[in-house]
Amino acid sequence: VNYICPFTTVFMEFKKIAKDLQSKARAGEITTDHGKIETPIFMPVGTVASVKGVHQRELKNDINPDIILGNTYHLYLRPQTSILEKAGGLHKFMNWDRNILTDSGGYQVYSLSANRKIKEEGVKFKSHIDGSMHLFTPENVMEIQRSIGADIIMAFDECTPYPCDYNYAKRSMNMTHRWLERCLEHLKKTPFKYDYSQAFFPIVQGSTYKDLRQQSAEYIANVGAEGNAIGGLSVGEPAEEMYAMTDVVCEILPEDKPRYLMGVGTPINILENIALGVDMFDCVMPTRNARNGMLFTAHGTINIKNKKWADDFSPIDDMGITFVDTDYSKAYLKHLFSVNELLGKQIATIHNLGFYLWLVREARRHIIAGDFRYWKDKMVKQMDKRL
Ligand code: GUN
Repeated sequence: VNYICPFTTVFMEFKKIAKDLQSKARAGEITTDHGKIETPIFMPVGTVASVKGVHQRELKNDINPDIILGNTYHLYLRPQTSILEKAGGLHKFMNWDRNILTDSGGYQVYSLSANRKIKEEGVKFKSHIDGSMHLFTPENVMEIQRSIGADIIMAFDECTPYPCDYNYAKRSMNMTHRWLERCLEHLKKTPFKYDYSQAFFPIVQGSTYKDLRQQSAEYIANVGAEGNAIGGLSVGEPAEEMYAMTDVVCEILPEDKPRYLMGVGTPINILENIALGVDMFDCVMPTRNARNGMLFTAHGTINIKNKKWADDFSPIDDMGITFVDTDYSKAYLKHLFSVNELLGKQIATIHNLGFYLWLVREARRHIIAGDFRYWKDKMVKQMDKRL
């Protein structure tokens, strides 16, 4: 099935601004009805209509991402689709007027809910909140994502675990492809619910098998969607295997469409995958790890709970881009974690997101300047330390 939506033309443009000569990195610009997204981009995760612990005002003014991510699985369970429809969509509900992408639930149903049953029809699952039973199908997940109203919506897929035997991976990939056809058929019948358009990204699967990844990438490329995603990675496989799969897939996915690597990763993973031609990333790591006291910096990671910071009155990160980096000392932040103050988690979250966004903007700057490969190799060495 070719992706042609008869109701409205989808407006999403991707312009390639620059290409690195010593790697496959690209700098680009995506334009949607909610504005521009400069790529490479990291999308902060706002699972339940909130980037945990961060005001929308701080997110916009201090961290400044062009796009954030929401989760269909969580939003469907709470506040529920009907509330989001009444609010006029997720943007209005949470007061965020820039871009949003929603994941389809194709990962969360497997990672969060108990007793899930995967069948050709869809996935029957038990809510992790109250144990109630639900069914996700390619059709109703498209419907739900229309109601949530993100600018970019994702296909319903199965994210295979690692390790995964070849036959399972192959069967699952083929089912993901059949589900994709059903998503496309349903989207054709379902107009946008609000006064802006929604782009649709299908997802490449195939576990860690090169031939399956190639088959899946060819299948996905053939759909001709506005952008394409790579799923089923960062699920426990060694980083080298992840890079090998990204490389195979990026060679096949179209040059002139954005490529989104789902759920990745560490700052090093992000730079290495940018070098292979990935444009978009999301991960809970900067936000979740912040709440556990782990800080990412250009010189390595910091466990702020460590005793050694108790009398270190230097700024949290003198190279950091957000106000918390210089307003507060490491000793103060360590103290907030010791006494379990909410503010500690908030400061660490703003710092980490500020760092991730700085990192992808620097990557973009170096791709355009033409020295990305050199800078990336230096950063990878530098960041691979514990301070
Ligand atoms: N997030 C991380 N990996 C995946 C994946 O394979 N599929 C989906 N839908 N979301 C993801």
